[in-house]
Amino acid sequence: MSTLPPNPFDLSGHHVLVTGASSGIGAHFAGVLAQHGARVSLAARRRDRLEALADRLGQEGAEVTALAMDVTSPDSVREAFDRAEAAFGTVDLVSNNAGVADARLALEIDEEGWQQVMSTNVDGVWRVAMEAARRLVAARQPGSIVNTASILGLRPAISQSSYATSKAAVVQLTKNLALEWSRKGIRVNALCPGYFITEMNRDFLTSERGRAYLATTPAQRAGELPELDAALLLLLSDAGRFINGVALPIDGAHSLGNM
Ligand SMILES: NC(=O)c1ccc[n+]([C@@H]2O[C@H](COP(=O)([O-])OP(=O)(O)OC[C@H]3O[C@@H](n4cnc5c(N)ncnc54)[C@H](OP(=O)(O)O)[C@@H]3O)[C@@H](O)[C@H]2O)c1
Repeated sequence: MSTLPPNPFDLSGHHVLVTGASSGIGAHFAGVLAQHGARVSLAARRRDRLEALADRLGQEGAEVTALAMDVTSPDSVREAFDRAEAAFGTVDLVSNNAGVADARLALEIDEEGWQQVMSTNVDGVWRVAMEAARRLVAARQPGSIVNTASILGLRPAISQSSYATSKAAVVQLTKNLALEWSRKGIRVNALCPGYFITEMNRDFLTSERGRAYLATTPAQRAGELPELDAALLLLLSDAGRFINGVALPIDGAHSLGNM
């Protein structure tokens, strides 16, 4: 059995593509991965945001490129991977993180709203994972993919029927791909964050009702973005080389609930 390198969390020599890198968790992850030595391809639809982040990280010495990518479009995903490869070579690590929320009650969701959540959160995650894996297999390279699911992929909640269903699909997709791609040297794991204040939920979580809700959770607060870093680095790097197909809650015990 080969020993692990002295710092198995070091990502020098790796190329990571982060989707949903224009805000929130993805923008934060991009900085963390760059700090750990990876070359980073930032992907999302809002290119101006990506370019501002790429400039900032570049000034800190990171190798970063900004790529417009709409995960609901096969052409857009393929073209962004082409550009990422042209910049830094084969993408061997993916933070598959783009997602949208819909906090409507089930009876208020229409066809369009349901499809928007599914096409971004399920089809988009599948499409990006597939594009990465096809290219890794063609290049005969190992890789690691970390999908951002949610604790709502593990448990239901009122007014989350489309979002929670989409994240449960991400959890199950993660396990199926891990099983199939293990022999190709590609690991697939999922992060299941609890509640972290981002553009997706800021209005609710900073409202009186949101603060009162957070106070009922075991940790009595939202998570802070750096509290996701250790799990991301463990799953993505060689430190987690025997961890495959897990869906890891990072939630201060929120998903355990209380009977
Ligand atoms: N915040 C939480 O409490 C929490 C908890 C559990 C899981 N999550 C998950 O964490 C991930 C990141 O969410 P966040 O909290 O950081 O929210 P956010 O700030 O709203 O970020 C969402 C990101 O997804 C991107 N995105 C949305 N649709 C896209 C599309 N069609 N193509 C490409 N990119 C797209 C957005 O970029 P553009 O609009 O520029 O395309 C944005 O960068 C999501 O998957 C979310 O479900 C969040």
